[in-house]
This record gives sequence, structure tokens and C-alpha cells, in this order.
Amino acid sequence: MNPLIAPSILASDFANLEREIKMINESQADWIHVDVMDGMFVPNISFGMPVVEAVKRHASKPLDVHLMIVQPERYVDAFQQAGAYSITIHAEACPHLHRNVQQIKALGCKAGVALNPHTPVSVLENIIGDVDLVLIMSVNPGFGGQKFIPNTYRKIEHLRKLIDDHNSKALIEIDGGVNQDNAKALLDAGANVLVAGNFVFSSPDPKGVIARLKAVS
Ligand code: DX5
Ligand code: ZN
Repeated sequence: MNPLIAPSILASDFANLEREIKMINESQADWIHVDVMDGMFVPNISFGMPVVEAVKRHASKPLDVHLMIVQPERYVDAFQQAGAYSITIHAEACPHLHRNVQQIKALGCKAGVALNPHTPVSVLENIIGDVDLVLIMSVNPGFGGQKFIPNTYRKIEHLRKLIDDHNSKALIEIDGGVNQDNAKALLDAGANVLVAGNFVFSSPDPKGVIARLKAVS
């Protein structure tokens, strides 16, 4: 099956966000991936609610909001109001992950849980039936343009088995260092959604790059 493609606007030209969103609208992308960083959970700061609202005003595709922040439960309402379709929080940031997932779902958003490269898939064993999306970080979160970590394939296979064993409908999203060279292997391992930042936005033909990723099966 063809993957869902979610270009990450972290790699886009922030001074021309309207133009970048228009490009995504006109492309074969399925979602717009929105990376929120707080300088605490990750060593970098990106943007917050006002920027997400501004993106929403121009976007014709769902906003896939990835919160790389501590205590994300303090802000999920605000991101829902800003226009998020899905809200993904980090397992490492949530001692009460089950409660926080229910909180996101009660707002009417799809609930995602992200795992850092060192976090085993097994932490999701008792919650996999409740989540709509699992985001596997294939780089350490905080920056775009990093090198893909090959152990990701093994994690996808573990997660695919966990999902199937529990009859869960969760989608598997891969985030970090995704490109044309690893896309097929990621799908073969069981991924459903591919995030791509630099690979899309550093190209002179971003729509073409998105179309080629979408065509991988
Ligand atoms: C990293 C972010 C990613 C990032 C991906 O912390 O979560 O979404 O934008 O960028 P690339 O595709 O350039 O690795
Ligand atoms: Zn992300």
C-alpha cells in the first residue's frame, strides 16, 4: 500500500510560509507535519500556537502536530483550538500517558504517541488499543536534516507485531531522515506514514519529491 506522506514544515522557509503551505496543498501530500519544540524536552525551540493557527488558515490538508515538549497535557487544548487534526505526544514526556491519550481523543483529535530512538516499543503494550498513531523517531528529536538510524527497521517490525497482536488500528509514522533510499524498506517493515522535512524542502522540485515518495509501494 502507498504511504501517507507528511511533509515537515520545520524545513520550510518560515518567511514564506503561505507559499510553502500552498505548495503542500497542491502536492500529493496527505498531511502537514508540524513540529513544536520547547527547548526543554529537546534542545531546540521551533514555534507555537500562533504559527500553527496561521498555517491552519492556509492549509487544505490535516495538520499532524508533533509536540516535542514537556508536560504536553498543558497545551493539547490550545493545539486543538489552533487547528490540529492529530496531536502526538512523547511517551518519555508523560508519566500519565494513558490519561493524556484520552484527553486528546476527548478533544476530537487523533491521538499519537511518539517514541525516541532509545525507547522500546514495549512501553506501548498496555495502550496500543487506545492510540490512533505511533510515531517512531528515526533520529533524535530536535533538529531536521539528521541521519536516519537503521535500528528503526527492527522497531517498526516489533510495533507492527504489537499492533496486529492487539487488533489495534494504529498507524505507524516514521519521522527523521526519511528519503527515497529508505522509503521502500520502511514500508516493507510495516510503516504507514512517512514524514519528510529536508528531503522535500531542499529540493528544487518539492512537489515532485512528494509525488515520488507517495508512489513508493
Ligand atoms: C525532528 C522532527 C522531524 C523533522 C524531520 O525532531 O520531529 O519532524 O522535521 O526532518 P528531516 O526529514 O529533515 O529529518
Ligand atoms: Zn516531527
